[in-house]
Order: sequence, then structure tokens, then C-alpha cells
Amino acid sequence: MNWDKDAPVGIFDSGVGGISVLREAVRLLPRERFLYYGDTAYAPYGTKTPQQVLQRVETVVDLLLARGIKALVIACNTATSVAAKALRERLDIPVIGMEPALKPASLLRHGGCVLVMATPVTLSQEKFLGLMARYGEGAVALPCPGLMEFVERGELDGPALDAYLRRLLEPFETRQVDCVVLGCTHYAFLREQIARHFPAGTVLVDGNEGTVRQLRRRLTETGLLRESGQGSVTLETSCDRPQAVEQMRRLLQM
Ligand code: DGL
Repeated sequence: MNWDKDAPVGIFDSGVGGISVLREAVRLLPRERFLYYGDTAYAPYGTKTPQQVLQRVETVVDLLLARGIKALVIACNTATSVAAKALRERLDIPVIGMEPALKPASLLRHGGCVLVMATPVTLSQEKFLGLMARYGEGAVALPCPGLMEFVERGELDGPALDAYLRRLLEPFETRQVDCVVLGCTHYAFLREQIARHFPAGTVLVDGNEGTVRQLRRRLTETGLLRESGQGSVTLETSCDRPQAVEQMRRLLQM
């Protein structure tokens, strides 16, 4: 355990997706120091084998631990479903993971379906299958291979994204969709673009705020919440493109 309140909170994702969680974290916990790591050189995680994802996650987490983090946020549904259990067993600092927000979404269903958009790995893992068994009545799992890449490329709008979404969501045009779960942290940056493909009134939910609230709870109960001083954000990536950090900064300010 690292009892230093001033130590950073480590937060990571396969790329820039977790910035959507970081953004929420900065808003709700303005005094914390955040160290964000985007594993951009190895993205995407969601179409690799669980074994490959686990290996990358272990490498990234070791790197963050070496920097003295006091808590870890897995700002990635894919990495959480593959690695959270093993990380919680191995680490003695708080580990906060993510899962598609199917539980809150199930409360918003009124006769139609709940569409869960996530990566193929997330949707195939035991964690999600358990979630489906408990809250999945009327839910449809929709794997979206290729969608996170639009965000990684900085292509947050335009005809190619629109065509991709049209093709993906066409089968649901004639169905009543009450709620759409954005089950990958990258998709939060495409919220409006995705919403356009559904009738007005369809609710889109993500797990970002819930994750940060859970972080705050864990920091509070372990006495690690930083209550004074200025917060800060450090952005790092495994990719050597100089623009990569710049892109993260832009998304953080969006
Ligand atoms: N942002 C990630 C998630 O929440 C993973 C996307 C990917 O690397 O495929 O699932």
C-alpha cells in the first residue's frame, strides 16, 4: 500500500479512450494528481486475444507502479474484463475497473431493447456474461470492431464514421431501442455521432461518472483522498508520435 496522499492516481487505457474517464476525474476530484498512460502503440486491445491484452496490461501497470501510484483506474472495459481480477489479487493499492453500464441501463428500459456497444473481447468475457445474466433482460450485445480506431485517428466525425455507424446500426432501425450503453471508453467521444442514428429520446449511458465516484469512495475510505493543494495531469503514451500527447490534451479539453 502506498499511503502518500500526494502520490498520483494511475489511470490507463489502450489509447485515448480513457481520457473520457480522466476528464470526469479531473472534474470531480480537482485536487488529485493524475498520471495517464495510453498504450497507443499496442491499440486496439478489443480485437486481440485475452492473453495478449493481459500481457500488455501487466506491462503498463508495472510501469505505473514504478512511478509510485497510490491507486489504479483501469479506464478500459476490455482491460478490466480480462485483467481486473488478477490485478486486485496482486496489488495492495485500490484498483478501480469499468464495466458496460448495463445495470443502470436496465432501469431505463420500457418494453424495447438495451443495446450494449463494446469491443469483441469485452462482450465475450465471463464478467460481461455475468452482467447479462443479472441485468440483461431485453439487452442485445453489439460488438463494434473498428470503432475505437476512428477516435484514435482523431476522426470524430465525417462520412466514413457515418457510413460505419449506419452499417452497424441498420438492424436496429426498425426496433425500439430504449437505451444505448457506450461500453468502451472511446465511444464517449462519439456520443453525439452515435445518438444521431437513433430517434430523439433514446438515452445513451456510459460508466465514466460511476467509475470516478467509485474512485472517490475508495480514496476516502483508505484515507488517500487529497483534500488540499492543486491537482495536476501528466499524459504519457507508449507511442512515439509527438502528436499523440497533443491529441490526448485536446480530447481532455473537449
Ligand atoms: N477503450 C477500451 C474499452 O473501454 C478499449 C478499446 C480497444 O482497445 O479496443 O474497452
